[in-house]
Amino acid sequence: MPKRALITGITGQDGSFLTEFLLNKGYEVFGIIRRSSSFNTDRIDHLYQDPHEPETRLRLIYGDLNDSSSLNQILQRVQPDEIYNLGAQSHVRVSFDVPEYTGEVTGLGTVRLLEAIRTIGLRTKFYQASSSELFGSVVEVPQTERTPFRPRSPYGCAKAYAYFITVNYRESYGLFACNGILFNHESERRGETFVTRKITRAATRIKLKLQEQLFLGNLEARRDWGYAPDYIEAMWLMMQAEEPDDYVIATGETHSIREFLDDAFGYLDLDWKKFVAIDPRYYRPAEVDLLLGDATKARRALGWEPKIGFKELVRLMVDHDLELARQEKATQQIKGALLPQRRWGAA
Ligand code: NAP
Ligand code: GDD
Repeated sequence: MPKRALITGITGQDGSFLTEFLLNKGYEVFGIIRRSSSFNTDRIDHLYQDPHEPETRLRLIYGDLNDSSSLNQILQRVQPDEIYNLGAQSHVRVSFDVPEYTGEVTGLGTVRLLEAIRTIGLRTKFYQASSSELFGSVVEVPQTERTPFRPRSPYGCAKAYAYFITVNYRESYGLFACNGILFNHESERRGETFVTRKITRAATRIKLKLQEQLFLGNLEARRDWGYAPDYIEAMWLMMQAEEPDDYVIATGETHSIREFLDDAFGYLDLDWKKFVAIDPRYYRPAEVDLLLGDATKARRALGWEPKIGFKELVRLMVDHDLELARQEKATQQIKGALLPQRRWGAA
């Protein structure tokens, strides 16, 4: 019998890479998706097969982390061996605009799942997508599993609740539950309102004269950026360990937004200072200035280490987005108009 995994957040960056990873390992994968007025399965469409095929190992089910009854029914029906809780309102800046909603999905969504596991009596493993945002205004550098949490946003506070409730269910009910405290991880599938992808999309569109300017917020913040598929492997390794535990997953290198701009525009032979303008609406009411992780524990206990470094990450994102821009340009030439940078929202 193949193992069964249930993924919340399957339509997101990590959900899509995790689905690929688990299908390659022979799992049956069940994903919870939300109803949307437009298509939201772009990242997993290439994996989806005919649901009537007997060989189909990926199935999508409608549900929501804000809806306990849907979670209960799905867990009863699927009886998964492993649950990966990746679903979240995951945008830090947006969490200041919708703090209560972020608390509901990102915080309480976790206890809804854990309670469903407990009341049904499921013998499943549980992975919680915890975040380096927990460290917030950091009290030490680098940050490890022992560094105290000082979250700086409604998102960080919601993730702190989710982290501790996961530990609590492990300690109270003996559930195999682990927290992956993942530092920022990016890819060619990263959402376009996160800063790395916003930069690589804009730089490549500017290169092809599809866009004239890029509006950003704070350029001084520093992040420990890794490559998402490397981090997916760490999630799975945690779930295969003898005992459940919590792990920091990071590269151990930190770079500023300015350095990301240098590398992304530089790779395209462009000087970003000619194109980037500051728009204060992208500032956050409270900023996380510096993140730098120490993943020694994961290296020792799980044998995990990142394969892709900063420069390679920037280049693979730029290469991917340059191809997208070329396709856009080809369409553009047919339509004959200059598209503005999408500036809706403050993210
Ligand atoms: P993402 O691309 O923003 O994906 C978030 C996923 O959550 C999407 O599939 C989204 O569905 C789903 N979702 C949102 N609200 C939901 C709800 N009410 N019920 C069910 N699903 C809901 O995020 P990601 O970058 O893949 O990150 C995955 C997880 O890791 C998140 O929990 C994030 O907070 C956490 N994390 C990410 C990073 C990082 O650097 N990427 C670092 C640390 C932790 P729709 O497609 O329908 O919106
Ligand atoms: N999004 C965005 N847009 N960020 C900007 C911009 C902009 O125009 N200009 C500057 N920044 C700065 C932000 O102020 C922040 O300091 C940094 O770029 C990174 O922002 P994001 O890419 O939005 O990521 P994040 O670090 O806030 O959050 C991501 O990483 C967390 C892990 O530490 C998200 O993926 C979270 O879900 C995740 O938990």
